[in-house]
Amino acid sequence: MSADTNEPKGPDLSSGVAVESVHDGGMLQGHVGQESVLLARRGKDFFAIGATCTHYGGPLAEGLVVGDTVRCPWHHACFSLRTGEALHAPALSSVACWSTESSGGKVFVRRKTSPKQGGRFTAKGGSPRRILIAGGGAAGFAAAERLRREGFDGDLTMVSNDDAAPVDRPNLSKDYLAGTAPEEWVPLRGDDFYAEQRIDLRLRTTVTDIDVRARQVSLSDGNRLPYDRLLLATGAEPVRLPVPGMDLAHVFTLRALRDCRAIIARAANARRAVVLGASFIGLEVAASLRARNIEVHVVAPEKRPMERIMGAQIGDFVRNLHEEHGVVFHLEDTATAIGERQVTLKTGRTIDADLVVVGVGVRPRLALAEKAGLATDRGVTVNEYLETNAAGVYAAGDIARWPDPHSGSSIRVEHWVVAERQGQIAALNMLGLKERFDAVPFFWSQHYDVPINYVGHAEAWDEIAVEGDVAARDCVLRYKSQGRVLAVASIYRDVDSLKIEAQMEQESA
Ligand SMILES: Cc1cc2nc3c(=O)[nH]c(=O)nc-3n(C[C@H](O)[C@H](O)[C@H](O)COP(=O)(O)OP(=O)(O)OC[C@H]3O[C@@H](n4cnc5c(N)ncnc54)[C@H](O)[C@@H]3O)c2cc1C
Ligand code: FES
Repeated sequence: MSADTNEPKGPDLSSGVAVESVHDGGMLQGHVGQESVLLARRGKDFFAIGATCTHYGGPLAEGLVVGDTVRCPWHHACFSLRTGEALHAPALSSVACWSTESSGGKVFVRRKTSPKQGGRFTAKGGSPRRILIAGGGAAGFAAAERLRREGFDGDLTMVSNDDAAPVDRPNLSKDYLAGTAPEEWVPLRGDDFYAEQRIDLRLRTTVTDIDVRARQVSLSDGNRLPYDRLLLATGAEPVRLPVPGMDLAHVFTLRALRDCRAIIARAANARRAVVLGASFIGLEVAASLRARNIEVHVVAPEKRPMERIMGAQIGDFVRNLHEEHGVVFHLEDTATAIGERQVTLKTGRTIDADLVVVGVGVRPRLALAEKAGLATDRGVTVNEYLETNAAGVYAAGDIARWPDPHSGSSIRVEHWVVAERQGQIAALNMLGLKERFDAVPFFWSQHYDVPINYVGHAEAWDEIAVEGDVAARDCVLRYKSQGRVLAVASIYRDVDSLKIEAQMEQESA
């Protein structure tokens, strides 16, 4: 996914455009020299920032202005119109910013400015000097990046039992696995970032214990590290099936880059794959293996893929979409054994397979928190500031259960953007910049060329109101309970999805 930025579109904004050509709350894409620039208006004020999202290159002009921010249409990153700063993930790098000037009924884009980014933290007595992050994934990385961006200059250590520096995990089931994205797209930052930012990244190291009284953690290499603030961001791990053959060399789960590399290596000589589980990850893997011309069979116990999360309409759509691409489904069935060459199903049927990927969900990694005596309830319990019941210990990402103001319930989700945003907010709170975590949950999933976006959170609903046409890939589905919209899924209705998210933000502000 990347926008074509070779030929800048629209008018030359340095020569000026009529003030009326941009309405209040509107945007215009133009250029200054070879650079694509977004001109946005709020009342009498005009702002000019880079037009291309720094996440995957989404066209910001096709997004939405909300207050003095612009939201990306693809995965809802949020940029400041005043400074270009990437305020909310998934974009983590700012876009450029220009000054503007209005005269004679025209607005001109003038100088490129070097705006202030972050920098809200000033150390004072009682400020933390040592921050430790357990986990090198979405939440851990976003927290570390934000801590430095806000001006934290004390000791910052990130301990990860992965062998790779933080990666763009969603890519592992999509373009990278499909062979359409090079490996250099996968790391969230290059290796030099950690040295430049003085982040002591300790890979292949497990945090084995936390002593919350002494404010110290023990590591698998025998070291102990003291902390003033600790962020737990240990994520989740794939569920393994209790069936014979799960340990065979051609059977994989997918979480880390090394898992993905192992699947790619096996796929090089595979003719037929069986994917166990019709989860998002399972089906994204199915799509990526089809892109490698491997025959794919999906086995899952449910009647329709994704029905529990997204309902029958999206379930049927997703099934048809995969069938159009040649995937064969074996629904309402499960695997009872995996052999060297075959998978045996409960119904007695056998499917030949030289590659098996198990995508049957994940379990949050809670052992560390439980051992430390932290409050847990199907997740690590945190308050609205993402702090656990132990002072100075925060939790974010797939492990955290937080009080969600939109649903009014304590929820835990497994979404990339939520994990990153929680990491960002935990960073602010570890610095004492008290900010509530009140983001509306958002996730996306991609199947072939079809992205599905989802805002809000609905574990159960009594009605799905469909607007548009699901089969035609042009729809908004509202999941309602007693008339109240809890969540909304959409396909190719990006602005609607952004508007609904903004409305949900306002409703619980
Ligand atoms: C293949 C794949 C595709 C996905 N696609 C999407 C998508 O399209 N959209 C979406 O919204 N979500 C997607 N997700 C989900 C998303 O990636 C997760 O919600 C997100 O990564 C959670 O972030 P996290 O920081 O909580 O955990 P993780 O990113 O898993 O990071 C946890 C880190 O902690 C480390 N760790 C664990 N225990 C310890 C310990 N004791 N000591 C030290 N380190 C430890 C791990 O090695 C890892 O580095 C996908 C997930 C996968 C696996
Ligand atoms: S491309 Fe902009 S948020 Fe992903």
